[in-house]
Amino acid sequence: MTTVGDLWASLPVPTIVIGPNDDIVDINSAAEGFFNVSAKTMRGAPLWDQLAVDAPLEESLARARKNGTPLFVNDVDVGSGQRAPLQCALQIAPLVGALDHMVLMISPRELAGRMTQSHSVKSAAKSAIGMAEMLAHEIKNPLAGITGAAQLLSMNLGAEDLELTDLIVEESRRIVKLLEQVEQFGNLSPPDLRPVNIHDVLDRARRSALLGFGAHVSIIEDYDPSLPLAFGDPDQLLQVVLNLLKNASEAAAQKGGKIRLHSYFEHSFRLRRADGSGQSLPLQIEIIDNGPGLPDSIAADIFDPFVSGKENGTGLGLALVSKIISDHGGWISVTSVPGQSVFRLSLPRAPKSDTPAAEKKD
Ligand SMILES: Nc1ncnc2c1ncn2[C@@H]1O[C@H](COP(=O)(O)OP(=O)(O)O)[C@@H](O)[C@H]1O
Ligand SMILES: [Mg+2]
Repeated sequence: MTTVGDLWASLPVPTIVIGPNDDIVDINSAAEGFFNVSAKTMRGAPLWDQLAVDAPLEESLARARKNGTPLFVNDVDVGSGQRAPLQCALQIAPLVGALDHMVLMISPRELAGRMTQSHSVKSAAKSAIGMAEMLAHEIKNPLAGITGAAQLLSMNLGAEDLELTDLIVEESRRIVKLLEQVEQFGNLSPPDLRPVNIHDVLDRARRSALLGFGAHVSIIEDYDPSLPLAFGDPDQLLQVVLNLLKNASEAAAQKGGKIRLHSYFEHSFRLRRADGSGQSLPLQIEIIDNGPGLPDSIAADIFDPFVSGKENGTGLGLALVSKIISDHGGWISVTSVPGQSVFRLSLPRAPKSDTPAAEKKD
């Protein structure tokens, strides 16, 4: 039988019980870890000597105590003598059954961020991309000038020097290509949602992959033929599948590389959002490759822009995928071990009423 003490010890969120005079009554083991001190040293110490918070909290805490109401504070830097400040969310509530005692829970942003990944990805992408877009615009014109000048120069050069001007032109082209990808982000319009046959999208992507970047792999179709229509923007979803197929092809071996396109229906898949609303995302599409898996060092950040494990990668492919899917209200997840990576898209189905009439063939 679990006791209250077990519960206190198991609670993964750093938590402090505060006495009537803002003294520390107890801290749990997560808080011991967080502050890097033992509960024994903390007990009895004045809270504000131990906890450095960059917000005027004493008064609000006193008010919450007086009124018996909870208090939530977002995005404050919390530190202590032993630890550098870290951005946290604080939740404070009266302790039931102990007069004037309060419970303080500290959620470091890393934890909070993980739970709402698609949202944080979106805003991180937004700021980094916004900056890059501005740069892209500024760089493209002078770059065209540089390329032109190099081409003019090359007309009067011998073979050895030609190599150098060719290098200028080639490298400039590479930068232009990168800039165009950055601009693609900014030009992305909100999805034009309509009923889409996701298998048509997968087929188109598969065929174009086999003609180009995926010529060396075999792509296996494993579809649930009874899958209902999805609600999405066919062009944007095609872009998503192409980006995922491109990564999968790049990961798969030159010989024996295999990619499986898997679709299935999962009636119970619902996404619960931070605001409490839920959405049903029953259509599942998996892109599975038999490559080496995600590099450990970047596995947690692959959906962020400019994160790449490849020498000439831009790190924009998955950032775009993540933005499009989150604009669709969908969800993307990845599981990866050496020998297999699975990228799974979860999408909403088309509203039932206009399913047959609005279906477009293209
Ligand atoms: N199927 C996969 N298998 C292994 N690693 C992958 C896979 N897909 C993505 N990655 C990793 O994620 C990184 C980011 O991918 P992406 O955003 O498309 O950028 P890029 O392909 O330009 O590097 C890749 O560089 C690679 O290291
Ligand atoms: Mg890529």
